[in-house]
Amino acid sequence: MTLFPNYHRAPVTFKKAKNATWTDKKNVEYTDLSSGIGVYNVGANNDAVASALIAQAKEMWHLPNLYENDLQETVASKLGGEKYTTYFANSGTEANEAAIKLARLATKRETIITFSNSFHGRTYASMSATAQDSIHHGLPLLSGFKYAKFNDINSVKELLNDDVAGVMLELVQGEGGVFPADPDFIRQLIHITHENGSLIMIDEVQTGIGRTGKKFSFENYDFEPDIFTSAKALANGVPVGAMLAKNEFASSLAYNTHGSTFGGNLLAMSAANATLDELSSILPDLSEKISLFWEELETLKKISIVTDVRGLGMMAGIELKIPVTQVVTDLLHMHIIVLSAGNNTLRLLPPLTISDTQLKTALKNIKQLLSK
Ligand SMILES: Cc1ncc(COP(=O)(O)O)c(C=O)c1O
Repeated sequence: MTLFPNYHRAPVTFKKAKNATWTDKKNVEYTDLSSGIGVYNVGANNDAVASALIAQAKEMWHLPNLYENDLQETVASKLGGEKYTTYFANSGTEANEAAIKLARLATKRETIITFSNSFHGRTYASMSATAQDSIHHGLPLLSGFKYAKFNDINSVKELLNDDVAGVMLELVQGEGGVFPADPDFIRQLIHITHENGSLIMIDEVQTGIGRTGKKFSFENYDFEPDIFTSAKALANGVPVGAMLAKNEFASSLAYNTHGSTFGGNLLAMSAANATLDELSSILPDLSEKISLFWEELETLKKISIVTDVRGLGMMAGIELKIPVTQVVTDLLHMHIIVLSAGNNTLRLLPPLTISDTQLKTALKNIKQLLSK
């Protein structure tokens, strides 16, 4: 055995990708409704991102965080504007580790409240923050994490006390089953969390970079978190993560409290810079694509094995009466790439740049399969 068996790999090898089309070794083309798990938001092998990456590769790849870095400054200001300060990491789980550290340093408290069905990553603190037994595998967890029930404000009230540093959540839970937060729950959550002197921490790893129709999902809920994290689509496939906090918390991540060799790597930053430019040209017209997506999705509700269709923007969950694994495999045989979430939810995260025709055709084929 050459590779650990920690992933289930479908027996297909892809050799290239362009926008929403992936091509396998036998030159068979597939429609991608996964964005490579929420990564290719501006389309696989996006020309502008590829050009930026190639140009940077010819200049310099790696610049230690011992020197000033103009590219990091540029990406940070495109991400967080004037109100936020940025730390760059290499992945979503790492961005969340930084968020947890910062919340604890800034408040001098320990407890982080997270929610049932959440997913925050696989490293130790992020795994401990993830309130799903199936992710813990009986491993001992770190102390300092308490789990509330998603969309249940009373369950948060029961846990709030003067040791709570922050409340961390996804506004649409991705891996856990595509569950959007209720806007009323969020309004109350922000109020009681701040009254308690605790911070609101939003995990935008899956929901960010245009996925829900806005640059970040919190814009749909009309508030600004104290801390938020981004990764996945931020550099459209080049590993990167970012943790942003309101400027008032910046001094808490003081010299030597945190760091990373590769965090904010030049190749990742050049890709992120181009990705964010691409995104700002895509976002103004994205609502039309979202409308088309949901028009088609609504029709799935009539199918007898479909129990719910939910989501936000270009992020959808189709809950089924049957286990989803076989459906994902069947769709792959039909050359459509989709994801699962939880045991029985089909998750669709198409590139924001997928053509209307390709999107409609793929959804028609999904409908046909589910109607059988
Ligand atoms: C909401 C959320 N947070 C964190 C992570 C972890 O990100 P990464 O796999 O880049 O460590 C994921 C990955 O799926 C995610 O969906």
